[in-house]
Amino acid sequence: MLMTMTTNSDEMDKAVHLLREGKLVAFPTETVYGLGADASNDEAVRKVFTLKERPDNHPLIVHIARLEQLQDWAVDVPPEAMKLADAFWPGPLTLVLKKKPEVSSLLTGGQATIGIRIPRHPLAQGLLDAFGDGLAAPSANKFTHISPTTASAVYEDLGTAVDMIMDGGPCEVGLESTIIDLSGDEPVLLRPGMLSQQAIEEVLGKPLHLAADVSTASRAPGSHLLHYAPKTKTHLIATGDITNYIQSLQSDGLPVVCVAYSDTSFPQVKQVDWVNMPADAAAYAHDIYRTLRALDTEHYKEILIEAVPETDEWTAIRDRLQKATGSST
Ligand code: TXA
Ligand code: MG
Repeated sequence: MLMTMTTNSDEMDKAVHLLREGKLVAFPTETVYGLGADASNDEAVRKVFTLKERPDNHPLIVHIARLEQLQDWAVDVPPEAMKLADAFWPGPLTLVLKKKPEVSSLLTGGQATIGIRIPRHPLAQGLLDAFGDGLAAPSANKFTHISPTTASAVYEDLGTAVDMIMDGGPCEVGLESTIIDLSGDEPVLLRPGMLSQQAIEEVLGKPLHLAADVSTASRAPGSHLLHYAPKTKTHLIATGDITNYIQSLQSDGLPVVCVAYSDTSFPQVKQVDWVNMPADAAAYAHDIYRTLRALDTEHYKEILIEAVPETDEWTAIRDRLQKATGSST
């Protein structure tokens, strides 16, 4: 297994060669690291499901380098898709479109649609360019675990079972892409990301429907609770409830940590450690998965996370925190 800060062309050639052979190459994108496989090679795609221990009805996203490649994977691409692509590609947006009949249903988890995205991380772009075809790439973590935002986090989850890990440093965005389903009559937001809903609606010129409100929307498996979760018991808690909660903790000597973002001051209780996150949503998103992964290795009895604001810019963060904590509010 080769783990490398890949900037030179030998390493890029090696990655392309491995992918052509049906091997798996993890690579950075601006959102999270992806576990890449040749999207046209069923055997390689099967390895992705096996390595991630992912159920086979959970579709993969195909990553492409250029807009012209859309026609290799999708049919009946609506004008809305071109508007969103113009505005946000390359970038942290995945479009769900009707798949071409010949696209393997392994990739799409048996659905008639396909998720596609053009990422903007320079290493991802370089790799996709050099490879020339689509790369299937789910987040490079074990199923239900937190997505990796560094190369070492990929290694921690997948170890030497992945054939190469390209190191592009910490991911700029830090949360997975926004997913919009354009395969039906109305655009549906299947997974919020760090693109603002308002910015997307301005480009579309119409409102986005939310998956929960649309009975005919595509399934986005992975939207169930306890996805993106640390192994440690994790609890999302309103700012105003933190003081009472920590006062009620048993003094069993077991350490608890609270991930706070506001500057509210809380009583300093001995068995509580504090992590102060940035109060800016983009900076918080950038750091949160790395923080949760680090805390998960420290044997805390419990991780408390201060609930974040209800505003639009925090939507994707709220979504992932609810999933990390199995909280339905
Ligand atoms: O930012 C990202 O999207 C990262 C990077 C690597 O690109 N990828 C990623 O992939 O998060 P993954 O497989 O971990 O999550 C993709 C989500 C899953 O919840 C899957 O169910 C949904 O996208 N999805 C993919 N194709 C779909 C489709 N055709 N219809 C509905 N949901 C789909
Ligand atoms: Mg994932």
